Amino acid sequence: MLLVAASLALPHGLPPQSLQCGRVGGPPPPRPRDLDRRAVLAGGLGFCGCCGIASPADALATLTPRASDLEAPRNPVFDRGFARGMNGGMADYEAAVAPKKKALFAKMLGSLKEESTVVELGMGTFPNAGFYAASGPRGLDIVGVDPNDSMGRYAEVNAAQAGLGERGHSIRVAHGVGEALPLADRSADAVVCTLTLCTVVDMDRTLAECVRVLKPGGQFLFLEHVLSETDKGLAEAQIKFTPFQVQAADGCHLDRRTLQNIKAAAFKSVDSEYFDLDGFLYLNPTIAGIATV
Ligand SMILES: C[S@@+](CC[C@H](N)C(=O)[O-])C[C@H]1O[C@@H](n2cnc3c(N)ncnc32)[C@H](O)[C@@H]1O
Repeated sequence: MLLVAASLALPHGLPPQSLQCGRVGGPPPPRPRDLDRRAVLAGGLGFCGCCGIASPADALATLTPRASDLEAPRNPVFDRGFARGMNGGMADYEAAVAPKKKALFAKMLGSLKEESTVVELGMGTFPNAGFYAASGPRGLDIVGVDPNDSMGRYAEVNAAQAGLGERGHSIRVAHGVGEALPLADRSADAVVCTLTLCTVVDMDRTLAECVRVLKPGGQFLFLEHVLSETDKGLAEAQIKFTPFQVQAADGCHLDRRTLQNIKAAAFKSVDSEYFDLDGFLYLNPTIAGIATV
Protein backbone atom coordinates (compact mmCIF):
# COMPACT_ATOMS: atom_id res chain seq x y z
CA MET A 1 0.00 0.00 0.00
CA LEU A 2 1.23 3.42 -0.85
CA LEU A 3 2.35 5.47 2.09
CA VAL A 4 1.37 9.04 1.47
CA ALA A 5 2.96 10.82 4.39
CA ALA A 6 1.78 13.99 6.05
CA SER A 7 2.68 17.04 4.03
CA LEU A 8 5.47 18.93 5.73
CA ALA A 9 4.02 22.36 5.24
CA LEU A 10 6.06 25.36 6.21
CA PRO A 11 3.99 28.41 5.27
CA HIS A 12 6.17 31.18 3.91
CA GLY A 13 7.59 33.37 6.62
CA LEU A 14 6.84 31.05 9.50
CA PRO A 15 9.77 29.66 11.43
CA PRO A 16 10.10 25.89 11.55
CA GLN A 17 8.75 25.68 15.12
CA SER A 18 5.37 26.87 13.77
CA LEU A 19 4.86 23.53 12.07
CA GLN A 20 1.63 21.88 13.10
CA CYS A 21 0.96 18.22 13.47
CA GLY A 22 -1.49 16.00 15.22
CA ARG A 23 0.83 15.62 18.21
CA VAL A 24 1.32 19.28 19.06
CA GLY A 25 0.47 20.13 22.64
CA GLY A 26 1.14 16.81 24.34
CA PRO A 27 4.22 14.90 25.30
CA PRO A 28 5.54 12.82 22.43
CA PRO A 29 4.70 9.13 22.78
CA PRO A 30 7.55 6.68 23.08
CA ARG A 31 9.05 6.09 19.70
CA PRO A 32 8.74 2.45 18.75
CA ARG A 33 12.01 1.15 17.40
CA ASP A 34 11.13 -2.37 16.41
CA LEU A 35 8.92 -1.67 13.38
CA ASP A 36 10.71 -1.46 10.12
CA ARG A 37 9.69 0.58 7.16
CA ARG A 38 8.48 -2.35 5.14
CA ALA A 39 6.01 -3.25 7.86
CA VAL A 40 4.70 0.27 7.81
CA LEU A 41 4.40 0.28 4.05
CA ALA A 42 2.48 -2.94 4.20
CA GLY A 43 0.27 -1.67 6.97
CA GLY A 44 -0.18 1.79 5.58
CA LEU A 45 0.60 3.60 8.82
CA GLY A 46 0.99 7.34 8.65
CA PHE A 47 4.14 9.29 9.27
CA CYS A 48 4.41 12.65 10.90
CA GLY A 49 7.24 14.66 9.40
CA CYS A 50 6.95 17.24 12.16
CA CYS A 51 7.73 15.22 15.24
CA GLY A 52 9.03 12.00 13.75
CA ILE A 53 6.70 9.92 15.90
CA ALA A 54 6.16 6.97 13.67
CA SER A 55 8.89 4.43 13.40
CA PRO A 56 9.01 4.29 9.59
CA ALA A 57 11.15 7.39 9.83
CA ASP A 58 13.90 5.08 11.02
CA ALA A 59 14.30 3.92 7.45
CA LEU A 60 13.33 7.19 5.75
CA ALA A 61 15.50 10.24 5.32
CA THR A 62 14.80 12.76 8.06
CA LEU A 63 13.15 15.94 6.81
CA THR A 64 14.04 19.18 8.54
CA PRO A 65 12.04 22.19 7.35
CA ARG A 66 14.26 25.14 6.51
CA ALA A 67 13.08 28.65 5.75
CA SER A 68 14.76 30.38 2.83
CA ASP A 69 15.34 34.08 2.49
CA LEU A 70 14.88 33.52 -1.23
CA GLU A 71 11.34 32.16 -1.05
CA ALA A 72 9.02 34.79 -2.42
CA PRO A 73 5.58 35.32 -0.83
CA ARG A 74 3.09 33.02 -2.50
CA ASN A 75 -0.39 33.66 -3.79
CA PRO A 76 -2.57 30.63 -2.94
CA VAL A 77 -5.13 31.46 -5.63
CA PHE A 78 -2.46 31.61 -8.33
CA ASP A 79 -0.82 28.50 -6.89
CA ARG A 80 -4.07 26.54 -7.11
CA GLY A 81 -4.62 27.59 -10.72
CA PHE A 82 -1.03 26.88 -11.70
CA ALA A 83 -1.15 23.43 -10.14
CA ARG A 84 -4.39 22.65 -11.98
CA GLY A 85 -2.88 23.90 -15.23
CA MET A 86 0.30 21.88 -14.81
CA ASN A 87 -1.70 18.75 -14.03
CA GLY A 88 -3.94 18.99 -17.07
CA GLY A 89 -1.95 21.01 -19.56
CA MET A 90 1.38 19.29 -20.03
CA ALA A 91 0.31 15.99 -21.59
CA ASP A 92 1.75 16.75 -25.03
CA TYR A 93 5.01 17.96 -23.56
CA GLU A 94 5.31 14.91 -21.33
CA ALA A 95 4.63 12.62 -24.28
CA ALA A 96 7.38 14.35 -26.27
CA VAL A 97 10.00 14.03 -23.54
CA ALA A 98 8.93 10.56 -22.41
CA PRO A 99 11.55 8.60 -24.40
CA LYS A 100 14.39 10.73 -22.97
CA LYS A 101 13.01 10.54 -19.45
CA LYS A 102 12.45 6.80 -19.74
CA ALA A 103 16.10 6.22 -20.66
CA LEU A 104 17.40 8.52 -17.92
CA PHE A 105 15.20 7.02 -15.21
CA ALA A 106 16.09 3.48 -16.27
CA LYS A 107 19.78 4.38 -15.94
CA MET A 108 19.38 6.14 -12.61
CA LEU A 109 17.03 3.62 -11.02
CA GLY A 110 19.12 0.73 -12.33
CA SER A 111 21.96 1.74 -10.04
CA LEU A 112 19.88 2.35 -6.90
CA LYS A 113 19.27 -0.14 -4.12
CA GLU A 114 15.99 -0.86 -2.34
CA GLU A 115 14.96 1.85 0.10
CA SER A 116 17.11 4.50 -1.54
CA THR A 117 16.06 8.09 -1.00
CA VAL A 118 15.16 10.08 -4.11
CA VAL A 119 14.38 13.79 -3.94
CA GLU A 120 12.02 15.23 -6.57
CA LEU A 121 13.07 18.86 -6.61
CA GLY A 122 10.07 21.01 -7.57
CA MET A 123 7.96 17.87 -7.66
CA GLY A 124 4.96 19.72 -9.07
CA THR A 125 2.11 17.37 -9.91
CA PHE A 126 4.61 14.50 -10.14
CA PRO A 127 4.49 13.77 -13.87
CA ASN A 128 7.53 11.54 -13.32
CA ALA A 129 5.54 9.10 -11.18
CA GLY A 130 5.17 6.51 -13.91
CA PHE A 131 8.92 6.14 -14.36
CA TYR A 132 9.33 4.93 -10.77
CA ALA A 133 6.71 2.27 -11.42
CA ALA A 134 8.25 1.07 -14.66
CA SER A 135 11.60 -0.17 -13.44
CA GLY A 136 14.17 -0.08 -10.69
CA PRO A 137 14.30 -1.17 -7.08
CA ARG A 138 11.31 -1.48 -4.79
CA GLY A 139 10.66 0.49 -1.65
CA LEU A 140 12.09 3.86 -2.62
CA ASP A 141 11.76 6.78 -0.20
CA ILE A 142 10.59 9.52 -2.59
CA VAL A 143 10.62 13.05 -1.16
CA GLY A 144 8.96 15.78 -3.20
CA VAL A 145 10.03 19.32 -2.35
CA ASP A 146 7.92 22.19 -3.64
CA PRO A 147 6.92 25.68 -2.41
CA ASN A 148 3.49 25.47 -4.06
CA ASP A 149 1.33 23.61 -1.55
CA SER A 150 -1.39 23.02 -4.14
CA MET A 151 0.84 20.61 -6.05
CA GLY A 152 0.90 17.92 -3.37
CA ARG A 153 -2.58 16.53 -3.76
CA TYR A 154 -2.11 16.10 -7.53
CA ALA A 155 1.25 14.49 -6.85
CA GLU A 156 -0.29 12.01 -4.45
CA VAL A 157 -3.10 11.11 -6.86
CA ASN A 158 -0.66 10.69 -9.73
CA ALA A 159 1.62 8.55 -7.55
CA ALA A 160 -1.28 6.29 -6.63
CA GLN A 161 -2.54 6.06 -10.22
CA ALA A 162 0.94 5.16 -11.43
CA GLY A 163 0.99 2.23 -9.02
CA LEU A 164 3.89 3.36 -6.88
CA GLY A 165 2.27 1.75 -3.87
CA GLU A 166 2.41 -1.64 -5.53
CA ARG A 167 6.16 -1.18 -5.84
CA GLY A 168 6.42 -0.39 -2.14
CA HIS A 169 7.55 3.19 -2.67
CA SER A 170 6.72 5.82 -0.08
CA ILE A 171 5.91 9.39 -1.08
CA ARG A 172 6.35 12.40 1.13
CA VAL A 173 5.63 15.91 -0.05
CA ALA A 174 7.51 18.62 1.80
CA HIS A 175 7.05 22.34 1.52
CA GLY A 176 10.41 23.86 0.64
CA VAL A 177 12.64 25.33 -2.02
CA GLY A 178 15.70 24.15 -3.85
CA GLU A 179 17.79 26.89 -2.31
CA ALA A 180 17.29 25.37 1.18
CA LEU A 181 16.48 21.68 0.82
CA PRO A 182 14.91 20.17 3.96
CA LEU A 183 17.35 17.27 4.06
CA ALA A 184 20.60 16.55 5.82
CA ASP A 185 24.00 16.49 4.15
CA ARG A 186 24.66 13.28 2.21
CA SER A 187 21.21 11.85 2.88
CA ALA A 188 19.88 11.30 -0.66
CA ASP A 189 20.84 8.76 -3.28
CA ALA A 190 19.42 10.77 -6.16
CA VAL A 191 17.87 14.14 -6.92
CA VAL A 192 15.50 14.45 -9.86
CA CYS A 193 14.97 17.87 -11.38
CA THR A 194 12.66 18.31 -14.36
CA LEU A 195 11.54 21.78 -15.46
CA THR A 196 12.49 23.27 -12.12
CA LEU A 197 15.85 25.00 -12.63
CA CYS A 198 14.07 27.41 -14.98
CA THR A 199 12.02 28.55 -11.99
CA VAL A 200 14.21 28.57 -8.90
CA VAL A 201 15.31 32.01 -7.74
CA ASP A 202 18.99 31.10 -7.39
CA MET A 203 20.10 28.27 -9.63
CA ASP A 204 23.68 28.05 -8.34
CA ARG A 205 22.54 27.89 -4.74
CA THR A 206 20.01 25.23 -5.66
CA LEU A 207 22.64 23.15 -7.42
CA ALA A 208 24.96 23.53 -4.42
CA GLU A 209 22.12 22.24 -2.24
CA CYS A 210 21.67 19.24 -4.51
CA VAL A 211 25.38 18.45 -4.18
CA ARG A 212 25.14 18.91 -0.41
CA VAL A 213 22.29 16.46 0.13
CA LEU A 214 23.59 13.79 -2.25
CA LYS A 215 25.66 10.92 -0.91
CA PRO A 216 29.02 10.28 -2.54
CA GLY A 217 28.23 8.73 -5.92
CA GLY A 218 24.70 10.15 -5.76
CA GLN A 219 23.00 11.10 -9.00
CA PHE A 220 21.40 14.32 -10.19
CA LEU A 221 18.94 13.58 -13.02
CA PHE A 222 17.91 16.66 -14.97
CA LEU A 223 15.75 17.63 -17.92
CA GLU A 224 15.23 21.35 -18.53
CA HIS A 225 14.31 23.75 -21.31
CA VAL A 226 17.03 26.31 -21.96
CA LEU A 227 18.06 29.31 -24.02
CA SER A 228 18.85 28.35 -27.59
CA GLU A 229 22.58 28.16 -28.30
CA THR A 230 22.09 27.54 -32.02
CA ASP A 231 19.18 29.72 -33.18
CA LYS A 232 19.89 33.42 -32.67
CA GLY A 233 16.34 34.48 -33.53
CA LEU A 234 14.84 32.02 -31.10
CA ALA A 235 17.25 33.08 -28.37
CA GLU A 236 16.32 36.73 -28.86
CA ALA A 237 12.63 35.87 -28.65
CA GLN A 238 13.22 33.81 -25.52
CA ILE A 239 15.01 36.70 -23.86
CA LYS A 240 12.26 39.10 -24.91
CA PHE A 241 9.42 36.91 -23.64
CA THR A 242 11.01 35.87 -20.39
CA PRO A 243 9.49 38.72 -18.31
CA PHE A 244 5.99 37.64 -19.47
CA GLN A 245 6.72 33.99 -18.89
CA VAL A 246 8.01 34.76 -15.40
CA GLN A 247 4.69 36.43 -14.58
CA ALA A 248 2.47 33.84 -16.24
CA ALA A 249 4.27 30.67 -15.21
CA ASP A 250 5.42 31.12 -11.64
CA GLY A 251 8.90 32.45 -12.30
CA CYS A 252 9.77 30.24 -15.30
CA HIS A 253 12.70 31.71 -17.26
CA LEU A 254 13.18 30.97 -20.96
CA ASP A 255 16.62 32.56 -21.07
CA ARG A 256 18.72 30.39 -18.79
CA ARG A 257 21.92 28.60 -19.84
CA THR A 258 21.27 25.87 -17.31
CA LEU A 259 23.81 23.36 -18.60
CA GLN A 260 26.60 25.86 -17.96
CA ASN A 261 25.46 26.20 -14.35
CA ILE A 262 25.26 22.42 -13.92
CA LYS A 263 28.76 22.00 -15.36
CA ALA A 264 30.07 24.75 -13.07
CA ALA A 265 28.53 23.14 -9.97
CA ALA A 266 30.57 20.77 -7.81
CA PHE A 267 29.53 17.55 -9.53
CA LYS A 268 32.31 15.10 -10.26
CA SER A 269 30.93 14.31 -13.70
CA VAL A 270 28.14 15.54 -15.96
CA ASP A 271 26.78 13.30 -18.69
CA SER A 272 24.48 15.51 -20.75
CA GLU A 273 22.90 16.19 -24.09
CA TYR A 274 21.39 19.25 -25.74
CA PHE A 275 18.58 18.55 -28.19
CA ASP A 276 15.67 20.15 -30.00
CA LEU A 277 12.13 19.28 -29.12
CA ASP A 278 9.87 19.89 -32.09
CA GLY A 279 6.70 21.87 -31.59
CA PHE A 280 7.38 23.51 -28.25
CA LEU A 281 8.45 26.97 -29.39
CA TYR A 282 10.14 28.74 -26.51
CA LEU A 283 10.09 25.68 -24.20
CA ASN A 284 12.90 24.40 -26.37
CA PRO A 285 15.72 23.45 -26.79
CA THR A 286 16.23 20.99 -23.97
CA ILE A 287 19.12 19.67 -21.93
CA ALA A 288 19.00 16.33 -20.17
CA GLY A 289 21.38 14.05 -18.39
CA ILE A 290 22.78 12.73 -15.14
CA ALA A 291 25.44 14.42 -13.08
CA THR A 292 27.23 12.52 -10.32
CA VAL A 293 28.65 13.66 -7.02
C1 LIG B 1 7.28 23.94 -14.22
S1 LIG B 1 7.01 23.18 -12.71
C2 LIG B 1 7.75 21.58 -12.95
C3 LIG B 1 7.19 20.56 -12.03
C4 LIG B 1 7.66 19.12 -12.28
N1 LIG B 1 9.03 18.94 -11.84
C5 LIG B 1 7.50 18.74 -13.70
O1 LIG B 1 8.40 18.14 -14.28
O2 LIG B 1 6.42 19.01 -14.25
C6 LIG B 1 8.14 23.97 -11.63
C7 LIG B 1 7.96 23.53 -10.20
O3 LIG B 1 8.97 24.13 -9.40
C8 LIG B 1 8.36 24.61 -8.22
N2 LIG B 1 9.23 25.66 -7.69
C9 LIG B 1 9.12 26.99 -7.83
N3 LIG B 1 10.11 27.63 -7.20
C10 LIG B 1 10.88 26.65 -6.64
C11 LIG B 1 12.05 26.66 -5.83
N4 LIG B 1 12.68 27.78 -5.52
N5 LIG B 1 12.53 25.47 -5.42
C12 LIG B 1 11.93 24.32 -5.76
N6 LIG B 1 10.83 24.25 -6.52
C13 LIG B 1 10.31 25.41 -6.96
C14 LIG B 1 6.99 25.08 -8.65
O4 LIG B 1 6.10 25.18 -7.58
C15 LIG B 1 6.62 23.99 -9.63
O5 LIG B 1 5.99 22.90 -9.01
